[in-house]
Amino acid sequence: MADARKRLDQETSAGPLGTARIHDSATKHVAGEAVYIDDVAAPEGLVHAYLGLAQIAHGRLLSLDLEPVGVAPGVLAVLTAADIPGANDISSTHRHDEPVFSTGAILHHGQPLFAVIAETREAARQAAALAKAVYDEAAPLLDVAAARAAGGELVTDPLKLERGDVAAAMAASPRRLKGSIAIGGQDHFYLEGQIALAIPGEDQDMLVLSSTQHPSEVQHMVAAVLGVGSHAVTVEVRRMGGGFGGKETQANLFACVAALAARKLKRPVKLRPDRDDDMVITGKRHDFVCDYEIGFDDNGRILAVDTVYGARCGWNADLSGPVTDRALFHMDNCYFYPAVRARSEPLRTHTVSNTAFRGFGGPQGMVGAERFIEEVAFATGKDPLEIRRLNLYGDAGRDITPYHQTVEDNIAGDVIAELERRCDYRARQMAIREANAASPIVKRGIALTPVKFGISFTATWFNQAGALVHVYTDGTVALNHGGTEMGQGLYIKVAQVVAQSFGIDLEQIKITATTTGKVPNTSATAASSGSDLNGMAALDACETIKARLVAFAAKHWQERPDDIAFLPGRIRIGAREVAFKELIAAAYMARVQLSATGFYATPKIHWDRKAGRGHPFYYFAYGAAAAEVAIDTLTGEYKVERVDILHDCGTSMNPAIDRGQIEGGFIQGMGWLTTEELVWDEKGRLKTHAPSTYKIPVASDRPRIFNVDLLENAPNREPTIGRSKAVGEPPLMLAISVLHALSDAVASVGGHRVCPRLDTPATPERVLEAVERVRAEAAS
Ligand code: MTE
Ligand code: MOS
Repeated sequence: MADARKRLDQETSAGPLGTARIHDSATKHVAGEAVYIDDVAAPEGLVHAYLGLAQIAHGRLLSLDLEPVGVAPGVLAVLTAADIPGANDISSTHRHDEPVFSTGAILHHGQPLFAVIAETREAARQAAALAKAVYDEAAPLLDVAAARAAGGELVTDPLKLERGDVAAAMAASPRRLKGSIAIGGQDHFYLEGQIALAIPGEDQDMLVLSSTQHPSEVQHMVAAVLGVGSHAVTVEVRRMGGGFGGKETQANLFACVAALAARKLKRPVKLRPDRDDDMVITGKRHDFVCDYEIGFDDNGRILAVDTVYGARCGWNADLSGPVTDRALFHMDNCYFYPAVRARSEPLRTHTVSNTAFRGFGGPQGMVGAERFIEEVAFATGKDPLEIRRLNLYGDAGRDITPYHQTVEDNIAGDVIAELERRCDYRARQMAIREANAASPIVKRGIALTPVKFGISFTATWFNQAGALVHVYTDGTVALNHGGTEMGQGLYIKVAQVVAQSFGIDLEQIKITATTTGKVPNTSATAASSGSDLNGMAALDACETIKARLVAFAAKHWQERPDDIAFLPGRIRIGAREVAFKELIAAAYMARVQLSATGFYATPKIHWDRKAGRGHPFYYFAYGAAAAEVAIDTLTGEYKVERVDILHDCGTSMNPAIDRGQIEGGFIQGMGWLTTEELVWDEKGRLKTHAPSTYKIPVASDRPRIFNVDLLENAPNREPTIGRSKAVGEPPLMLAISVLHALSDAVASVGGHRVCPRLDTPATPERVLEAVERVRAEAAS
């Protein structure tokens, strides 16, 4: 394996790896030819399922009359928990707290009670609304404050990170302050909603096409629900129309219900909820309340941080444990805290079960970190960027995280300095201050914030991947691995690795759909680790085949193995050169195996959760963004005028794809922190369940000027695939710069003396409210 990496590193000068390549499905995406599950030609006998949902947020189901559902036109069957042959459980943890269908307890509005199967989707959908449920309603706990007030029941074990004597350091700090920030949640708003198509086979076999980031988990869930072995279930995913973490566990329900119905009816069954129902049923990004106390000195150097991150987890544990953990892992962002204590509070509420969402709690943790900086800046009357720089991780003694991992690859200071230079930050900041003085109503603001994001699953065992590579006798290649494609460009990146390794063109490689039948026991494509893990696994498979080819060629052409090299399009064997295709044909005739599996497990990482110590991250990805905004102080409305980004992808595997990830991640983060607001009413009903009420960024919201650069000459110091760095999630957090630019603009109405303390999302209403508060406080 070590050898393989070396070889690939040396080869990066020629070949497709590291070059800008179009997404393998880009043309099909824009032409509408890419096949999503709903586009798959209907199999013979296809019928449709729909879910019947609870209409209260908390209480008990006293009776459920399904008679009107069953007799509705086109209805073939109605299924409840009693129809499940296996386990009524799709909990992704060992807590068994997530039934497929409720058996009485109602824990959130929209909880599935039953499924109806009909000849058409419309018939099923309409029939689902006809059930007559009688409930014993109880008061729901809907948010962090309510959950805390009721005793603070937790859905999973909390985490505590601690280093140094916080109480002593706090007491000894010349300055101290306390505060709180509310950080909003976010709906995934994947373009393709949740969907599954289950096709029964002979015996108890079930093929499930699922829009999931985690085919192996769907396989296990379907097997458990059907009461069969995993070997009877095959889950296939060609692509998702976006996942963003929302299909890491949330696809399980839809796949299991479709499979259950397919089993009962012995017909293929499709389940595709409406957008509204999808939003009502599925979990979202966790919203948090972060309470903090910070000790610091007059220069603004942080001496102690004591903080609690309370999260609205919803009705079951789901991924709330790892999400709230990752929030704590990022409550430092790029900053060293000499003494620190951070605690998570994963609170149970009667709302959807919040789940993975790009950054996986990290963004919320980091919003806290940047708020601490802002507080200290205002308290000491210094420029926030100066305070950021002053508190960065540094040399020995200032390089240990709250989880006791040493930061060995810190480039935050360099990235900040370089971006500051490229975007002319200081001069623009001064110009903005001057312009604001002359502009009574429209105020501009600017901020530059860095990102340091830990790469690896904190559940160490997930950091593994497998691949399967076939070389056919004509020299073309079929590539399969455990990673899923959700638009992020994983498939093309791994194909680039294989093309690079064999020295062949990308066109020679067929990227095949992810399926549990080819590569088993895979991890979710998540934690941004898809290309790190699957790229390495695919390379491992290629190296196995190449080793066989070298051994064969050495014998066949009577050369030393050291004199054999894979070059672009050909293999040099001593003095002669042979086309890849020719070598393959010859090797086949000599009975050389041309197919191999590959495997990879991330080295170095370990994590002791109980002790709160370890080395959970293989490396860190860095970046920085400078945002400039203009707010209207009469209405709170604002525009993002300009954004400059410098982001660290290591040695990029594909600069075009990475740029797309950076732009998309940034805009998605901006939406989260500005306009995307989730509102539940007092009955626990989600009021923002459609694009009419839930505002994601549109083209006109993009920054007027948007300069995105990939950090140059920055290979990963760890031997990752092609020395690249993961890019899927980190750029989302670059959008924290927009929040702070808004804050800077708001602060201008109080002469930059009062900390605006904006909660997120910083909607125009919140900005207006902050303007008025800051103005009043500055005047008093
Ligand atoms: N990009 C697109 N276009 N669509 C997505 O759903 N998901 C993000 C990110 N980028 C996503 C995306 C999330 S949450 C993760 S964890 C990574 O992609 C997963 O893919 P990777 O590990 O291959 O980067
Ligand atoms: Mo991404 S939130 O890890 O799917």
